[in-house]
Amino acid sequence: MRSVVELQTWVTRSEDETAHVGRQLTKQLPQGSVVSLEGTLGAGKSVLVRGMAAGLGIDPESVTSPTFTLWQTYSGTCDLHHLDAYRLRNAEEFLELGVEELFQQDGLIVIEWGEKVRRVLPTEHYRVTIEIDEDSHRRIVLLQQTES
Ligand SMILES: Nc1ncnc2c1ncn2[C@@H]1O[C@H](COP(=O)(O)OP(=O)(O)O)[C@@H](O)[C@H]1O
Ligand SMILES: [Mg+2]
Repeated sequence: MRSVVELQTWVTRSEDETAHVGRQLTKQLPQGSVVSLEGTLGAGKSVLVRGMAAGLGIDPESVTSPTFTLWQTYSGTCDLHHLDAYRLRNAEEFLELGVEELFQQDGLIVIEWGEKVRRVLPTEHYRVTIEIDEDSHRRIVLLQQTES
């Protein structure tokens, strides 16, 4: 049976605070984790990824939007695979990128707009949802989907 549990919630008031949550996540999530980032345009998904990069010793400035390239890998204390499903029409297009192979590897895999491709993600994965509460406030929730 599939279950989704809420692990943690943060409310951030600035870009820096959200980046800090990203940093913290890299300390918390095990190697090989698949993380789906879910939230509207401008919610802070890319900001969070830059924080994760910093947590892995990768220059956050080097993390660009993978909206056009769809997939970028950075190497730090472990690999950071950054994907963006925004421009994909369906989950099949996501599979055609060769992601199944990626799911077998170590490193951290983060997918912006992961909800679009959820049905082809490994059953066991994490979700980070980001909601805009007020102008600069973001409610960030970490969830874990498991199969038991
Ligand atoms: N608390 C906050 N957390 C993250 N970003 C914030 C926050 N407050 C304002 N922002 C702004 O929101 C925008 C988020 O952009 P981005 O991370 O590219 O969004 P997404 O990747 O979800 O489309 C940035 O311009 C950032 O400065
Ligand atoms: Mg983005």
